[in-house]
Amino acid sequence: MGDSNQVQSVAKLSVRNITKSYENGENGKKLVLDDISFEVKEKEFLSILGPSGCGKTTLLKIIAGLMKPDAGKILIDGQETELGHNRVAVIFQQESLYPWLDVRSNIEFGLALKGMKPAERKMLSDRMMDLVGIKGLEEHYPHEISGGQARKTEMARSLIVSPDVLASDEGFSNLDAQTRNHLQEEFLRVWEETGSTILFVTHNVDEAVFMSDRILMLSNAPARIIAEYDIDLPRPRIRASSESRVFRAQILEVLRAEQEKVLAS
Ligand SMILES: Nc1ncnc2c1ncn2[C@@H]1O[C@H](COP(=O)(O)OP(=O)(O)OP(=O)(O)O)[C@@H](O)[C@H]1O
Ligand SMILES: [Mg+2]
Repeated sequence: MGDSNQVQSVAKLSVRNITKSYENGENGKKLVLDDISFEVKEKEFLSILGPSGCGKTTLLKIIAGLMKPDAGKILIDGQETELGHNRVAVIFQQESLYPWLDVRSNIEFGLALKGMKPAERKMLSDRMMDLVGIKGLEEHYPHEISGGQARKTEMARSLIVSPDVLASDEGFSNLDAQTRNHLQEEFLRVWEETGSTILFVTHNVDEAVFMSDRILMLSNAPARIIAEYDIDLPRPRIRASSESRVFRAQILEVLRAEQEKVLAS
């Protein structure tokens, strides 16, 4: 890899040689991430696809500074990050709104932690609720909104802190197909309006092809990058286009081969 000045001009996020094992009881250590390296350009929409349990959430936690790798580095704008950094916001796999706070307070909580004054917070949360399309729900509690509205609330909560990278960890799973399609479109609109850099973890091939500029595929655990696809289709995309179908077929074939390895082992 070149010197840091060169990287700075290219990569928003650099993931370099990340390796991670977990303690595995009597069996010693279990390797989960095996020397993972990739870069994400500013404003790029990068998806990570991989079989269940391969290490995607572990990788996101390391990138977001929530967990320390055994080896490797995470750089943002060419600068090495430390554990606990706040530059990557993650929409997690499980719904993570505070049930005892209303929508507005959930969205503003991160800013309150940073000591921002209520009037300023309100201005920003108004803007974010407008951006993701949940205006009017400010005083509702999480149990009073739909699954789709909850995901939009999480989107607003993540974007309000102006992260360098917005990450989603299977953020749209457990939703009906119609809500999921709607959220995909809303997420793309927000991405385009904000010019965010996106790291999007999904196991849904259709979703990855519909949304991404580029897709990385991970192997079964321990995860390595086994394929990369440039999805050079024009936007807005048409889900049923023959070009999309070709990408989907190609990717599904590699995923299927990866799963067959598990069945054969
Ligand atoms: N804290 C932990 N301690 C020990 N093992 C763990 C821990 N967290 C995850 N693992 C194991 O590490 C592997 C990778 O887990 P991880 O959650 O990163 O996978 P994933 O790709 O996100 O899975 P999924 O597709 O189901 O969300 C799994 O085998 C899991 O059981
Ligand atoms: Mg996961």
